[in-house]
Amino acid sequence: MGTYKFFAMKKYLMLTIALVAGTMISCTEAQKETAMDQNETLENLKTRRSIRSYTDSLPEMDLLKKVIEAGTYAPTGQGKQSPIIVAVTDKDVRDRLSRMNAAVMGASNDPFYGAPAVLVVLADRNVPTYLYDGSLVMGNLMNAAHALGLGTCWIHRAREVFDTEEGKALLKEWGIEGDYEGIGNCIIGYPAQEAPQPKPRKADYVYYVD
Ligand SMILES: Cc1cc2nc3c(=O)[nH]c(=O)nc-3n(C[C@H](O)[C@H](O)[C@H](O)COP(=O)(O)O)c2cc1C
Repeated sequence: MGTYKFFAMKKYLMLTIALVAGTMISCTEAQKETAMDQNETLENLKTRRSIRSYTDSLPEMDLLKKVIEAGTYAPTGQGKQSPIIVAVTDKDVRDRLSRMNAAVMGASNDPFYGAPAVLVVLADRNVPTYLYDGSLVMGNLMNAAHALGLGTCWIHRAREVFDTEEGKALLKEWGIEGDYEGIGNCIIGYPAQEAPQPKPRKADYVYYVD
């Protein structure tokens, strides 16, 4: 083979390799994009909505425990695990907490929207990051519940409820000692409504600093 022919073939070969590699890379990129679009976790995070109507059925305990476990794996400042979760499935206690919550607003309706259970998140005030820690637990609970087909809604005023004498007495009755602040009530149950459409995300939600 002449020198010229050899170099021409080598050039052709290298070009072919580059083309194939390029195609492979772009395939991988496309596959990556599809994988991201179809990612169950991301889809779950996007489709969770606050549910405000529930059936009377109490979710099975093993299902609730899965949700609660996910809550306990939320990140916490310095890994101090400042929050606690009180899983209330007893109807009388659930109703009592609902009444106490309504009383904070001077109302008498059921702020728990008929949900049969409530996961109360409290966190240790002595840990500087307690509010963030407890909020992340709430987020994990809501997203995990949604992943398992359950509905939830964050109901506020846990702080006010557990700062009352009645609230403090309840904690004591449940064997909880320490300086705990109510972070949120995660009401939970089977949805009796279609998930509402989310509001469009505001235009200036994200700033990219490249
Ligand atoms: C800190 C906090 C407090 C909330 N308190 C209440 C509440 O007391 N009652 C209620 O119906 N929803 C409450 N929500 C739910 C919000 O209204 C809801 O997340 C918001 O409207 C967005 O809807 P989405 O959860 O379906 O995306 C609360 C949410 C957060 C994060």
